[in-house]
Amino acid sequence: MRFDVERIRADFPILQRKMNGKPLAYLDSAATSQKPLAVIEAISDYYSTYNANIHRGIYELSEKATEKYAESKEKVAKLINAGGVENIIYTRNATEALNLAALTYASHKVRKGDRILITEMEHHSNLVPWQLLAKKQKAVLEYIRVDKRTGLLDGTSLNESLEREPAIVSLTQASNVLGTINDVKSITRMAHGHGATVIVDGAQSAPRMRVDVKDIGCDFLAFSGHKMLGPTGIGVMYAKRDILEETEPLLGGGDMILKVTLKAHMWNELPWKFEAGTPNIEGGIVLGTAIDYLNGIGLGAIDSYESELTRYALARLSELKNVETFGPGLKDAKNRAGLVAFSINGIHAHDIAQVFNDNGIAIRAGHHCAMPLVREVLGKDSLARMSFYVYNTKDEIDRAVDAIEKVKKIFRVE
Ligand SMILES: Cc1ncc(COP(=O)(O)O)c(C=O)c1O
Repeated sequence: MRFDVERIRADFPILQRKMNGKPLAYLDSAATSQKPLAVIEAISDYYSTYNANIHRGIYELSEKATEKYAESKEKVAKLINAGGVENIIYTRNATEALNLAALTYASHKVRKGDRILITEMEHHSNLVPWQLLAKKQKAVLEYIRVDKRTGLLDGTSLNESLEREPAIVSLTQASNVLGTINDVKSITRMAHGHGATVIVDGAQSAPRMRVDVKDIGCDFLAFSGHKMLGPTGIGVMYAKRDILEETEPLLGGGDMILKVTLKAHMWNELPWKFEAGTPNIEGGIVLGTAIDYLNGIGLGAIDSYESELTRYALARLSELKNVETFGPGLKDAKNRAGLVAFSINGIHAHDIAQVFNDNGIAIRAGHHCAMPLVREVLGKDSLARMSFYVYNTKDEIDRAVDAIEKVKKIFRVE
């Protein structure tokens, strides 16, 4: 079936606007995605017709909000094949989900001298929480090296690190800088063989490909709603049931308890035990609307369309002199997320982004919240990045290539 991008674009009101007098080309969906009308209307519908707190009101509005919130969790559970809603904890975002895993389960599992294993390609969200935990528990934080040339994890480094029996292995499924898609299924199997608990950062993978936690076998998965057409302020931490049962919650308060006396308390059942206080009700509900929209297109179709755009972008950029791209090359583009980070010889990424902005094109520039990767592994100060989603077109990539030519002209690069 043909991927009808024009029909999809018509669902995104923001794409009708101009930026600096030019039609907006939004090439920054890896930072946050735009929202379809269905999502915008669902937010308005909640506040206009049934805004009420959940799990407590014995009246129609509250019952409807509670029902919609629960329905949305079921959609999330189905999306990632989690089994049931008891495995789905709503958080603010992927960052909070990763921190929650580190501050609850992992902070009990990791003891003095234990090893925590992550990769050099992690976003700060899956790096700083582990630096903090290693410091607190006097544990050792190790990194699986990245092969700068291929953009892939170094197999020898992976095997050697696993041989040292880490307590935790936490890694991204898709890199927000290199685009690399890691084989988290094989790594999980290997890590489990060495007794590790495996945490997967799905912030860049969940929006674009089928992520099946049962198939991967991971113990935790984290992702954000705002990168997959949903509102900001809603994210997900999936964890296996036995882990959640044995783990103490981080926060105490309303909704997470079943019974409280002056002396003690009894936790609520899963998943509510981990959601203290009034949650982001609107975000929780509308994430379900975003998932409906994504399912309407099909994650398989999204994945192949993004691959097509990525291959096209890599091919076009390879025609340009003095332009370097990062991550797996064209021949490995099949297993690459829909983004391309690049640099132009001698030109700061902020200058590139400025010229793009002048031409109506939104891209991200900087260290992409992956400073160790960009600076210490790739040896760059900053990179420009274009990232694609369901509403992007090859025409927009052509405009980006034209903008690169303009940058080169302005800064007198060949
Ligand atoms: C790979 C990866 N992990 C985690 C995050 C953090 O997501 P959030 O800022 O929504 O918590 C991002 C955001 O860009 C990301 O790209």
